[in-house]
Amino acid sequence: MQYLLKSGDLANLRTACLVLGIHSRRRLSGPAADIDKASGGQLSAILKRGDMDGEAEQSLMLYDLPKIQAERVLLVGLGPEKEFTLKSALKSWAGAVRMLNQGSVIEAVNTLPALETGESGLDQVLRESVITAEDQVYRFDQCKSKAEPPKRPLKKLALYIGDQPKSQALQRAVSEGEAIAAGISLSKDLANLPGNLCTPGHLAEQARKLGRQSTKLKVSVLEEKQMESLGMGSLLSVSRGSREPAKLIVMEYKGGKSGSRPLLLVGKGLTFDAGGISLKPAAAMDEMKYDMCGGASVIGTMAACVKMELPINLVVIVPASENLPDGAANKPGDIVTSMSGQTIEILNTDAEGRLILCDALTYAERYKPAAVVDVATLTGACIIALGNQASGLLSNDDKLAGELLEAGSRANDRAWQLPLWDEYQDQLKSNFADMANIGGKGAGTITAACFLSRYARKFKWAHLDIAGTAWRSGEDKGATGRPVSLLSQFLLKRAGRVK
Ligand code: BES
Ligand code: MN
Ligand code: ZN
Repeated sequence: MQYLLKSGDLANLRTACLVLGIHSRRRLSGPAADIDKASGGQLSAILKRGDMDGEAEQSLMLYDLPKIQAERVLLVGLGPEKEFTLKSALKSWAGAVRMLNQGSVIEAVNTLPALETGESGLDQVLRESVITAEDQVYRFDQCKSKAEPPKRPLKKLALYIGDQPKSQALQRAVSEGEAIAAGISLSKDLANLPGNLCTPGHLAEQARKLGRQSTKLKVSVLEEKQMESLGMGSLLSVSRGSREPAKLIVMEYKGGKSGSRPLLLVGKGLTFDAGGISLKPAAAMDEMKYDMCGGASVIGTMAACVKMELPINLVVIVPASENLPDGAANKPGDIVTSMSGQTIEILNTDAEGRLILCDALTYAERYKPAAVVDVATLTGACIIALGNQASGLLSNDDKLAGELLEAGSRANDRAWQLPLWDEYQDQLKSNFADMANIGGKGAGTITAACFLSRYARKFKWAHLDIAGTAWRSGEDKGATGRPVSLLSQFLLKRAGRVK
């Protein structure tokens, strides 16, 4: 999709479709009032007939309004004016894009960015408007023999900014929105691709491909032999049960000063999780192809960062492996030695995410990172705790946690913090090794993070459990691309691009 900024007189804008917001009880938004006036009160006259009163999720397409250059006007409900936020604007915008993309309109002007939402600056509104539109038109049909795309898909969207000048900062916000949306799409593509095609090797190849697109990005892939010499006994114990060799993908972006410490993102890249010898039940096991969504999201975030040319140093590390039952697979009771030297008793082979992440975290130490954020579909317990709305957040640094929470709420990609108190560490006691890989019945998301915290003592660290947010199940099954938005917002802030 192509995006551009528009300002000036609405009545004289030539477009196939003008999208206007209407608040509850038929209250016209500013741009709608302008159009109403120019058309001699036609808009309010039509609304009085009662087809629409501005409740959220309502819409009404109008044709040939008098004295208006736009061929169509699409009215969208915004809900009560007093409760109007960027979030409600984006929800209505999403509905409008879906409708236009399925219809015959290939180009439109969105006036919702011109509305005052109070809490967010116009730059943020523009970024989010682009991201939302791209989210709506995303399709995954790589695996269909005959794709059936919309007959006349949307191609061009203009974002109307009232009488504000089209400043460089606003143009840049649009480009940033496009870059983040591209990162989200990449992350969704990697995630939706099934386990037989999206192997650790495939993930590595896709990362390498990104590396060829920028001189500031260097990508290297560690093979099992190298992991062996580094002593990554925990990671390798998981991949031993699989015929696909594990990969440790390392992406280094140098956009900042050469001496400045990098931010570091680690993503769980488990390309299929059958549970191993602690085999999972069959129902919905296909969804365990999504167990690499953490890895996909940090690769997507790197892609966005490179496109935005952020003036920061960023390192992304993705431990990639499968978890399958096999004669060589981990067995309950096995004890392995991690790269850190700490030993682990594997009481459940299905708690494999932490086993591959712990060695990646130890590997991260060599970068002396300013902060480390790991992202993982780590625990079913996180879905029990938070459902599909918020990602779980746990951290050894409250300031870092606060930054991530704020980034998530600004970017419409929220997280919610859970405690990482010492008391929970006791649940990981093992009679035979330094720790067990599971923590018993209660607080599964917290004990998983406690496990990781033992490999994150040397830096400021936060963990995002995205088990409930990375994909949707059911009729609408598909990757969401979360938390690329949250992470990109965090990077934008660290880079000084947003306040
Ligand atoms: N990848 C799963 C977590 C998961 C399950 C995410 C369902 C999303 C949906 C992870 O490897 C796992 O199996 N975790 C176990 C841990 C348990 C054995 C302590 C779980 O959550 O059941
Ligand atoms: Mn598992
Ligand atoms: Zn898993």
